[in-house]
Amino acid sequence: MTEKDFILIHSDTSKLTKGSFTWESPSNIALVKYWGKSEPQIPKNASISFTLSNCKTITTLQFSKKENLTKDFNVEVIFEGEKKDAFKPKILQFFKRIEQYVPFITEFNFVLETKNTFPHSSGIASSASGLSALSLCIMSIEKEINPNISPEYFNQKASFLARLGSGSASRSVEGEIVVWGKHETIAESSDLYGVKFPFKIHSNFSKYQDTILLVDRGEKQVSSTVGHQLMYEHPFAQQRFDQAQENITKLTKILQNGDLKAFVNLVESEALSLHAMMMTSNPYFILMKPNTLKIIEKIWAYRKEYDSNICFTLDAGANVHVLYPEKEKEKIQFFIEKELSELCQNKHYINDCVGKGATEINNFV
Ligand code: DP6
Repeated sequence: MTEKDFILIHSDTSKLTKGSFTWESPSNIALVKYWGKSEPQIPKNASISFTLSNCKTITTLQFSKKENLTKDFNVEVIFEGEKKDAFKPKILQFFKRIEQYVPFITEFNFVLETKNTFPHSSGIASSASGLSALSLCIMSIEKEINPNISPEYFNQKASFLARLGSGSASRSVEGEIVVWGKHETIAESSDLYGVKFPFKIHSNFSKYQDTILLVDRGEKQVSSTVGHQLMYEHPFAQQRFDQAQENITKLTKILQNGDLKAFVNLVESEALSLHAMMMTSNPYFILMKPNTLKIIEKIWAYRKEYDSNICFTLDAGANVHVLYPEKEKEKIQFFIEKELSELCQNKHYINDCVGKGATEINNFV
């Protein structure tokens, strides 16, 4: 598939006057990280993520035909029940980026109603789940216009559109384990959209657990846009991209053979490499907080003492994702409550686990 395959050619909307679609889309956490991209939203290396079951965005997109056709976009945004003009510029920019692929979006007035299942300003990014949910709603409109599209194309294009909004959003359409970015060991992988991990996953990884420790609930210190830019002139950029590609090869094997010790080693090394990139860029950043480090030390001590497979990963911030097999759930959740919760802001953490991809929950035309 190339970019051209995602351009809608016959865009006859004459039979479509109004309607609404609702999609629920999950957040995801990368195991091998995407950090560095080129235009238009093409990743410098492939990434792999776990899809999260409990951290979701639910979006309803209402649409009605404009009375007078204009070339601009008309969208009202309602976030958690309240009109939110502050979100509009981001949505309008997204519409602009995807217009050539879904030209019908200029023909409708939109009301976008959206809410998250995780608390606002929890430090959990909602751009992946939010932009994928919106892309899926737009694809539902495309399917009304062109009912012949296959479910496979539907998901690929939803992921393709979501990617243009935010790279990691391309990994929030399909379920369980998703790969985004071309990689030699995964034939169906693409820089343009995310694909479901195509091999049989070892049972050690089924319902893998992720407890998100909210160490810092504030605004992100470095936006991902700025973060990705730091990789342009980064002295270690090429080594990092090569390392990530090698890690995808390794992780592809680990996910099939169930080697948990190798998983722990690779996932933690990826998280620390991501942060090392930020510490060695110019300008430089330390995104961990003292409690991030305290948590990491406690995780390491627990792992040693109980010969556990607990490990951590990080995104571009201070929060810690604690990853562990379902088998160890009871013991580790007890440890988290007893020893790690006090290192979180207001003792706040979220228990989650790997789950399915996005689902349509309502439609009306
Ligand atoms: C550290 O997807 O947020 O979470 O494409 O600029 O929107 P944009 O970036 P974004 O970057 C995510 C970075 C990361 C790693 C990852 O999710 O792979």
